[in-house]
Amino acid sequence: MTHLNISTADGRGSALSPGSLSELNDRFRDASPEALLRWAIDTFSPRLGLASSFGAEDVVLIDMLSKLEPPTRVFTLDTGRLPAETYTLMDAIRERYGVSIEVYCPQAEAVETMVRERGVNLFYKSVENRKLCCGVRKVEPLGRALRGLDAWITGLRREQAVTRTRVEKIEVDRDHGGIIKLNPLADWSWDEVWAYIRERQIPYNALHDRGYPSIGCAPCTRAVQPGEDLRAGRWWWEGDPAAKECGLHPAQ
Ligand code: ADX
Ligand code: SF4
Repeated sequence: MTHLNISTADGRGSALSPGSLSELNDRFRDASPEALLRWAIDTFSPRLGLASSFGAEDVVLIDMLSKLEPPTRVFTLDTGRLPAETYTLMDAIRERYGVSIEVYCPQAEAVETMVRERGVNLFYKSVENRKLCCGVRKVEPLGRALRGLDAWITGLRREQAVTRTRVEKIEVDRDHGGIIKLNPLADWSWDEVWAYIRERQIPYNALHDRGYPSIGCAPCTRAVQPGEDLRAGRWWWEGDPAAKECGLHPAQ
């Protein structure tokens, strides 16, 4: 496959012109996620990584990647506040696929200062506090995880939220030095995700069976009621769905 104008020789950034980006997205518009992952590996490996929170989308991607050579790095941001069920799944995935999971933790000193000054459950007190906590526990570690990568893969889907309706399968991530961000499941529905999981009996987070479609940190995630949207249980005390991003993914 031709690589268009992608140039990753400097280790960061890409020389994708807006034209070639839309050409690439056109090429993969109707392609399977596996075809996009194959292209990503051919183009970026070993400077390619999957960001996994072990949600339903992420275990699908781990399964797809497990069938493709060479292996792709899998990393997770362990905020220190994840539900016990997520840690259980992390080990189940490690065992099923024999993957080594790179775990990034927040900087201890930054957490210590934050909780000393604002309390351990500071996020309930204000949006500013919540964003600070996500910054310390997720966004800073993500920056470290992406260092040295030319492209990263996420489980973002357009259907997930009003902030994600314009997600493309291939994007330039301006927040991280212009590296490439790949969202192979961008156009998948929730039903497609679950059909894939069930058919292959992939291990998944036990909280999904208890009404949690979207799973983040334990104190900031609750079950949703029938009819509520998929991310209604994330930071549920904050009203505005258009503001419900934590900084890993800018609202679009
Ligand atoms: S979040 O920004 O609101 O937390 P969400 O839970 O919907 O994101 O997950 C979307 C994608 O972001 C996941 O499929 C995964 O690629 C990435 N992601 C989210 N949280 C983490 C995490 N803790 N570690 C690694 N990747 C994550
Ligand atoms: Fe902190 Fe909650 Fe963000 Fe987790 S989701 S990093 S606990 S504010």
